[in-house]
Amino acid sequence: MINTLHLDAADPAARQDAIDRAARLLREGKLVIIPTETVYGLAANALDPAAVERIFTAKGRPQDNPLIVHISEFSQIEPLVSQIPPAARLLARRFWPGPMTMVLPKSRLVPMVTSGGLDTVGIRMPSQKTAHDIIAAAGVPLAAPSANLSGSPSPTNPHRCAQDMDGRVEAIVMDGDCAVGEESTVVAGEGNKALVLRPGAVTPEDLASVLGAENVTVHPSITAPLAPGQKAASPGMKYKHYAPRAEVTIVRGSGEAYRAFAAAHAGPGVWLMRFDEDGEVPGLPSLSYGSMGDPRSQAHLLFEVLREMDEKGAETVYAHGPQPGGVGLAVYNRLLRAAAFRVVDV
Ligand code: TXA
Ligand code: MG
Repeated sequence: MINTLHLDAADPAARQDAIDRAARLLREGKLVIIPTETVYGLAANALDPAAVERIFTAKGRPQDNPLIVHISEFSQIEPLVSQIPPAARLLARRFWPGPMTMVLPKSRLVPMVTSGGLDTVGIRMPSQKTAHDIIAAAGVPLAAPSANLSGSPSPTNPHRCAQDMDGRVEAIVMDGDCAVGEESTVVAGEGNKALVLRPGAVTPEDLASVLGAENVTVHPSITAPLAPGQKAASPGMKYKHYAPRAEVTIVRGSGEAYRAFAAAHAGPGVWLMRFDEDGEVPGLPSLSYGSMGDPRSQAHLLFEVLREMDEKGAETVYAHGPQPGGVGLAVYNRLLRAAAFRVVDV
């Protein structure tokens, strides 16, 4: 069983009590699952190497995959980094608090286990009020990867956290569905430039609106598999990720072409991950993961629908490919990994 800390907005004293209990456990070096606006995070004191070790064990996470350090105020960043490039300051001013992580040169205060052995550290200031309040009450920065077992889709509600982490953590703070549903945009800043290592709700276009389009680059590995021997810019990108048990294939094309492809590939264990607008295909079970023209709705549903496919016993999944622009780039990036880069154009 997992200890659950409930947040009752109608009862401020009980809410504060739950936050204080989570903060106390975190200060004691325990693991607590916390909500954020992106996905639920598996949190521990980022500055306590023994506590951070427990995160890696609980997730079954490779030791070289660095953790994101979460802060509640900008002033908390100063002791964690050795410098803040101008681009990072501009982006923080515009997009924090919010779904953006910045990779910066780390200070000695950040343990090597937290940064996965790198001399940089990813830092994020979440916008979700509960996350903010827990970090502030803990009084220490919190390392928090997504609260899933390594390799499975990130959890966007408490039920999915408990499925993966029951018996592995001290407590979970229950706060409903995550608003965004996909992990933060990860950006490396240098000088006046930014390199997107993982796309998210803060889009390359958003970054360009602050830094200028000429100063924003999207890492090629976001939409293509790593070539043999090529080094991943972000260690997390070299691992199999977001994958359900079913074999997923992305099918790119119009609604009509997708439906025709699906009808021709019907069979036992075959499921469709379609858009609302595609409608049902006779004889084929399906789940919608949002509206075709609304990538935010897709981001919100994608991980939950991938997990539902497992529950349905899907063996083969044909997913209608999203438009990879704006927030859709993040949806496409996650789906590509769930599909191990299997894509067909119709
Ligand atoms: O929205 C989020 O970012 C969520 C919530 C809980 O805040 N957290 C999250 O953490 O997604 P995680 O550990 O599941 O993903 C972190 C990603 C990994 O791909 C990791 O390799 C990359 O960020 N990353 C972290 N620190 C890095 C660094 N110093 N350099 C390059 N990549 C880094
Ligand atoms: Mg993760």
